[in-house]
Amino acid sequence: MTDFLSKNYWNTRYETEQTGWDLKAVSPPLKAYIDQLTDKHISILMPGCGSGYEARYLAERGFQNVTVIDIAPLAVEIMKKNLSDYQNITVIEGDFFNHAGEYDLILEQTFFCAIDPALRPKYVQKMSELLTTKGKLVGLLFGVEFPNNPPFGGSKEEYVNLFSDKFLIKTLEPCYNSVKPRMGNELFFNFFKNEQ
Ligand SMILES: C[S@@+](CC[C@H](N)C(=O)[O-])C[C@H]1O[C@@H](n2cnc3c(N)ncnc32)[C@H](O)[C@@H]1O
Repeated sequence: MTDFLSKNYWNTRYETEQTGWDLKAVSPPLKAYIDQLTDKHISILMPGCGSGYEARYLAERGFQNVTVIDIAPLAVEIMKKNLSDYQNITVIEGDFFNHAGEYDLILEQTFFCAIDPALRPKYVQKMSELLTTKGKLVGLLFGVEFPNNPPFGGSKEEYVNLFSDKFLIKTLEPCYNSVKPRMGNELFFNFFKNEQ
């Protein structure tokens, strides 16, 4: 398939309802992380956000400055429907790698594993650029390998090597509160942007 992992590829996955990643609800580890945040004014980005459950949860919890971006027009359409009751969420259709902005917190869930592994250094660089000086990148990474197709996995060692130049690895541990099908396969992480 020539358009593998392109905008068209992802849009077709939504059109054909091949969206096995969609939890239909806020992800429990991210919910637990969000629940202990106290400053509701921080700027938050969720890239490759899909149906937008985490963004909806953030809005329900009173977060004032939430941005979501997805490359697939149909995902954005679904997201806009799911988020229509909330005014304080900016929904963008576009490529994360072309996005410009400044965020205190970026939340990751099944976006890193959806991009071509060759783009991982670019992902790290872009995340660092999008974060404020004391910004954090927080979320979930698969801690196991999957062959050939998304989700593309990895290992703790690989992630330490990949992120350490731009981030301080505060947490990168097996996730205790994953959804059942992902239990044992996910690492929860909290990376602080390195102050340069
Ligand atoms: C595996 S899905 C995960 C969706 C969502 N995070 C979830 O957990 O339900 C990957 C998402 O990333 C989006 N995506 C892929 N490449 C992208 C890019 N370069 N920029 C923005 N979104 C992208 C896809 O359209 C898709 O919605």
